[in-house]
Parts: sequence; C-alpha cells; structure tokens
Amino acid sequence: MKIALLSIGPNSYSNRRMVFEAEKRGHAIEVVNYLRCYLKVTPNESSIYYEGRALDYFDAVIPRIGASYTFFGTAVVRQFEIMRTFCLNSSLGITRSRDKLRALQTLARKGFMIPDTGSSHSTNDVGGLIDTVGGAPLVIKLVEGTQGLGVVLTKTRKASESVIQAFCGLKSDILVQDFIGEAGGADLRLFVVGDKVVASMQRKAAKGDFRSNVHRGGSTQKIKITEKERQMAIDSSKALGLQISGVDIIRSKKGPMILEVNSSPGLEGIESTSGENVAEAIIRYIERKAARRKRRDEKEIQT
Ligand SMILES: Nc1ncnc2c1ncn2[C@@H]1O[C@H](COP(=O)(O)OP(=O)(O)O)[C@@H](O)[C@H]1O
Ligand SMILES: [Mg+2]
Repeated sequence: MKIALLSIGPNSYSNRRMVFEAEKRGHAIEVVNYLRCYLKVTPNESSIYYEGRALDYFDAVIPRIGASYTFFGTAVVRQFEIMRTFCLNSSLGITRSRDKLRALQTLARKGFMIPDTGSSHSTNDVGGLIDTVGGAPLVIKLVEGTQGLGVVLTKTRKASESVIQAFCGLKSDILVQDFIGEAGGADLRLFVVGDKVVASMQRKAAKGDFRSNVHRGGSTQKIKITEKERQMAIDSSKALGLQISGVDIIRSKKGPMILEVNSSPGLEGIESTSGENVAEAIIRYIERKAARRKRRDEKEIQT
C-alpha cells in the first residue's frame, strides 16, 4: 500500500513509530505536510498538490491534524475523501471531536455519562451558568483547548465568576463543568482502533495540579479497565464518527464519565506504559479497511 501520513511534525515519536511499522509491513509511507498542500476544487477535477506533484496515488491517509490547523487540515482530509482515498479519520469526525462543546452535546444526546456541563456566550447571567453544574468548585475550559491548556479549576463561586468573565471578555468560547474531585487528579486514556481498545493507561496529575495531561507533568501507569469503560470508549469513538481515537474517561462516584475524545492521540505515553504495539495495530487496521474500500467503493461522502 501507499500511505500518506498528514502531519507537520515528521520527527515526532508517534510519526516515527507509524512510519517504522508501516515499512516493516512492506508499505510505502510518506509524511505529507498538509499545510503545504494546495487543492484544486472544480466540478471536473478534485485534486491535491504537494511539492509540485498531484497526490493521487495513495491507498490510505492517516490524518494527524494539529489543533491550531483544524480548518485547513480538515479541508485537505475532505479533499482526499472526495477523491475516494481511504482516510483513517474522517474530516467530519475530526471536526466533531475538536470542538469540546459539540462533542459533549453529541455524547449527552446519545446518553453517554459525562460530567454536567454548561456553556454561554454572554456574561449577563454568570450565576445561572454556574448553577447549571451545581455551583463551585467547577472546571472552566476553552472549547478548543488541548494538552490541559485552558482548563482551570475554580474553588469558589466568586473565583468562578471572575474567570468566566475574564475568558468571555477575551471573546473565548468556554464551557463549565462539574469538578469530579473524587478522581483525585487521575483519569484513564483508552486508545481505540476500529471497534477495539488496543491499549490503555491511567494518568495522574502532578502534585498541586488536577489535570492529568502528560504535557502538564502528569505521570502514567498501567491500569486494568472495566468492561463498561472499554465499551464506553468504543461507543463514544463511533458516536463521533472516529475510527481511531484516544478517549479520556474519569472515574466518578456515579461511575465512569467521558471527558473527551481525541482524534489525533499520541503514541509515546501509551505504548511505553501499556507495552502494546499501538502503531502496528493502526497499520493492520488500515490494511483491512483500505483493502475493503478498494473492493467496494460506495460510501456516501459527508461534508
Ligand atoms: N470535570 C472535570 N473534573 C475533574 N478533572 C477534570 C475535569 N475535566 C478535566 N479534568 C482534568 O483536566 C484534564 C484536561 O481536561 P480535558 O477536558 O481532557 O482537556 P484537554 O483537551 O486540554 O486535555 C483531564 O485529563 C483531567 O485530568
Ligand atoms: Mg484531554
């Protein structure tokens, strides 16, 4: 197979691992900087150009779209979809998961357990917004934040009001969420490929923090997940239309709850902690799906 890895960071651990495993299995894999691609969008021709070449020869695409480049990144993925190239995650799935509020709305509507969540644009009733999640302490998040940046815990009603007003004053889209204090700064990361959880780990926040993100100094360890957590991860990934995802689950006293579903989950922490070969699982999955796509190419394109 010929595989395109859409990424702006060719030397990241995740990319190196996927390139290694793909080549080991006899595939040709190319890292394509999607920010340097250009698109031809006409009724007669849909193509993508990169470094003077038309990218019309790939059997499969692995999108690794950075949070800062969702708009153009998903446009490139959409163009591959229009060209009928198999994409590991769809442009629609990536768009849905990037916006935390949109993803939580979808998950809540489908009955998934999530921490109570509220959102507003204006500050005309901050008190009412705080009450949607049962008052302080609460967590305030930027709707498009990642790696724990823009996730704030406020312990009092007064502090919550100030931070909400500050974010809104900066014209940021935010959501507020019930703080799951009983989790003690820990959550689970489940790595989903297709309809399987191929690896999982627990993450624990550094002392003095409540965010478990590795980028914020969180530590990781092996963990046994329950059947319910496994099923939640698979189902939530499917609900957002993703074939590969990293699902964050927090253990609350009411049971496991989904915090978010990431469409470009990193491989480093999860491979080293779980001991699983996640990169190989991804390549094997693409082999199965891209071959099937070649055989019967009738799937509706959603834009
Ligand atoms: N409602 C919450 N209650 C307790 N901890 C939370 C809550 N929401 C987020 N966290 C902690 O903050 C981390 C980052 O939040 P998350 O929503 O995953 O944003 P990001 O996209 O920045 O990773 C989570 O991994 C978790 O440790
Ligand atoms: Mg997260």
